[in-house]
Amino acid sequence: MSACSACALRSSCTQVVFGSGNHEAEILFIGEAPGKKEDETGVPFVGSSGRILDKMLAEINIKREDIYLTNICKCRPPENRDPLPEEIVICWPWLKKQIAIIHPKIIVTLGKYALNHFLPAAKISQVHGQVIKIDIKKIGKINLFPLHHPAAARQNRKTRALFNEDFQKIPKVLQKTKKNP
Ligand code: URA
Repeated sequence: MSACSACALRSSCTQVVFGSGNHEAEILFIGEAPGKKEDETGVPFVGSSGRILDKMLAEINIKREDIYLTNICKCRPPENRDPLPEEIVICWPWLKKQIAIIHPKIIVTLGKYALNHFLPAAKISQVHGQVIKIDIKKIGKINLFPLHHPAAARQNRKTRALFNEDFQKIPKVLQKTKKNP
């Protein structure tokens, strides 16, 4: 992955931010793309969105080392623009490999880009905080738990309240999935 230059993003970013955490994690968090801090450090979610994520993880007693964190695009888009559909498509084989290796019990998508990659027609305002079973070709069925993006939660008080509420459900969702995969 570090040597990938399949799309133009690699020529403008500092490094590929492939992911971090436990490769045997039960929960895989998928965000959008690295930002400035992530691009500098090579670690996902270390900027302002990461701080929100860390706070929420602490509230539900889950450590970063227990989960795996990655993004649908592994390279920072210039000026933090949204990833383009073709960049997401080109990066998908890497994410797919990560899902196959980690084989999480649940995938928590953060924001509409990660959600719409798996469910193109879904509206985050309607499906956030609900468990949705998806079928990934050659991987199988996995429970998706879509959340708002922490950056959106930072910008809007109502979104923040929904994000917090949904986040608190994660331990229960995991327990349920384990009992009834
Ligand atoms: N940092 C990331 O790694 N991903 C995001 O989606 C936002 C910030």
